[in-house]
Amino acid sequence: MNNLAQSSPGRANPVRLGILLSGRGSNFLAIAESIRTGRLANVEISVVISNVADAPGLAAAQQMCLPTTALVSKGRKREEHDADVVAALHAHRVDLVCLAGYMRLLSPAFIAAFPNRILNIHPSLLPAFPGLDAQEQAFNYGVKVAGCTVHFVDTELDHGAIILQRAIPVLDEDDAHSLAARILHEEHIAYTEAIARVASGQYEIRGRQFVKTGNDGTRERGS
Ligand code: GRF
Repeated sequence: MNNLAQSSPGRANPVRLGILLSGRGSNFLAIAESIRTGRLANVEISVVISNVADAPGLAAAQQMCLPTTALVSKGRKREEHDADVVAALHAHRVDLVCLAGYMRLLSPAFIAAFPNRILNIHPSLLPAFPGLDAQEQAFNYGVKVAGCTVHFVDTELDHGAIILQRAIPVLDEDDAHSLAARILHEEHIAYTEAIARVASGQYEIRGRQFVKTGNDGTRERGS
């Protein structure tokens, strides 16, 4: 099954997001703001889960009175911890999982529990610079164009089908820090846009291609 519309035909209820984060949570906050202002329609945050108890993003979610769960991963086997996270996501009837600075690799069982229902944002133009410190990797390499990628999560690191990318030029006056800040600004736009596309259900995944379709499931002209 490819998309959310097919899993819930004629969906009237909002798409329920489960946000997973480990740190400051600026992408989570951008998503929450997009929902609040109506840029992301028919979407709601059902739960925010962190594997780090004192993650600032989790505290922010609590302040916003969103349901939150801390499931500390340190010292636990990946499969056991992931099983708890999946159970929490199911308990909150999550449709779509959004990794927002979640610094954990997901086990195959986790990915299988939400097939094509897990999104990640990565601060590079994949497949360049997967892994940690992507912005610094890109800056040190000397690229002239940098950016971010929102993609589905599969069993390989920063690898699944790409939903969208946003690119920016690297400026002569940039350092790794300023570049990362400008990429982060693009991330906040990109994640909302990607969630809107996926939540619309108007897409197909053909091989690695994320293809927008019309209401009737046909491929859009020019897309
Ligand atoms: C972002 O740069 C994101 O692309 C990467 O982790 C960082 C998380 O930042 N996966 P934040 O916690 O959303 O502010």
